Amino acid sequence: MIEAVDNAMLELQHALSVRMMYPPGKHVQTCQERVCEMVQQILQHQRKLDVFVLDDRVIFDDRTLPSSVNLVNGLFGLLYRSGVDRITFHQGLEIEEIRLLLDELADCKIEGSKRLQATPHVIFSFIRQIDAADSTPPQSPHQVLDGREMTVDVNSLWRDIDVGEGLNVEMLTDIVTNIIRAVSDHSDIMLPLVTLKRHDEYSFVHVINVAILSTTLSESLGFDDTGVHEMCIAALLHDIGKQHIPRELLNKKGRLTNEELQQIQMHPVEGARMLLSTPGMPELAPIVAFEHHVCANGGGYPKVPQDWQLNLASRMVQIVDVFDALRTHRPYRQGLSLPQIIEIFQSDMNACFDADLLDVFFQHIIPRYHPEMVDVIEAQP
Ligand SMILES: [Fe+2]
Ligand SMILES: [Fe+2]
Repeated sequence: MIEAVDNAMLELQHALSVRMMYPPGKHVQTCQERVCEMVQQILQHQRKLDVFVLDDRVIFDDRTLPSSVNLVNGLFGLLYRSGVDRITFHQGLEIEEIRLLLDELADCKIEGSKRLQATPHVIFSFIRQIDAADSTPPQSPHQVLDGREMTVDVNSLWRDIDVGEGLNVEMLTDIVTNIIRAVSDHSDIMLPLVTLKRHDEYSFVHVINVAILSTTLSESLGFDDTGVHEMCIAALLHDIGKQHIPRELLNKKGRLTNEELQQIQMHPVEGARMLLSTPGMPELAPIVAFEHHVCANGGGYPKVPQDWQLNLASRMVQIVDVFDALRTHRPYRQGLSLPQIIEIFQSDMNACFDADLLDVFFQHIIPRYHPEMVDVIEAQP
């Protein structure tokens, strides 16, 4: 499949060159038809074709396209300069949409950059983490969270915490508002970031993913506006206690020593302490930070009294947290497939996870963000 995607992207790039060089006519049209056919063929095997730029690579399905360098210097470089680093084709794609796409890209090439207009089956989005110092933001992309603005904010937020300036609650509120709006509007947020592999992006990616999924889960469980808002904040901050754990330790490939394990297992307590001392922080945030690794049967960490009742929000974040961690590639292991993840959840269900919540999560939340996984979920007993 990767060769087919590579060829289709090269063909799209070629069609753009032809569109730029030749007047409208047979040759231009033939190229458009060829692109459309190639993409449609790929879409016979999957619901959507999702290709994005990461650093200097073009990625499809967690793999670098063979013609990555060529594409980054051409088509994807052009998209990137227009504030887009991801293009997604959906089933139902029509030739007219390819024609419009090429018109848009051609305008973009002439004008330097422009806001690209999506069509029903061709969606652009922006996912990358950028340097907050980048002072020339393009127009906001559509169909996603306002990625650039939000990303800058999150970077600043993390940096403030890192340098000990505390938590900027106002900034946090903006991020939360953006996530909730996108979740409620059913914007095409996706969870693309889970495919990023560089560790320094992991924490950022992980908290955003956990916040998006937890917020969606809280909405689908009928939380009121305040509940959804507080859930989103709590999810964003659940791992905040990891801020002072050295990166090398978080990524260590080999077995952890007892001291190292203890250090990592302190992050819920550290996080809860930090959040408790932050003015304006909803009560739920320190609770979730403290409880998100405590199992329903009292296992996990930190140790809690035997009759401890876990908050519903903690149980929700726990599922989402584990799901995202298992899906993601980490330095010490590859991301797992959905069947493998489901197996892990099922084998652990009674000990740790809430069966009803798991049901809602896999039946209603995952299909929204990972439609390609529906078949796997439906095949479960
Ligand atoms: Fe954690
Ligand atoms: Fe986490």
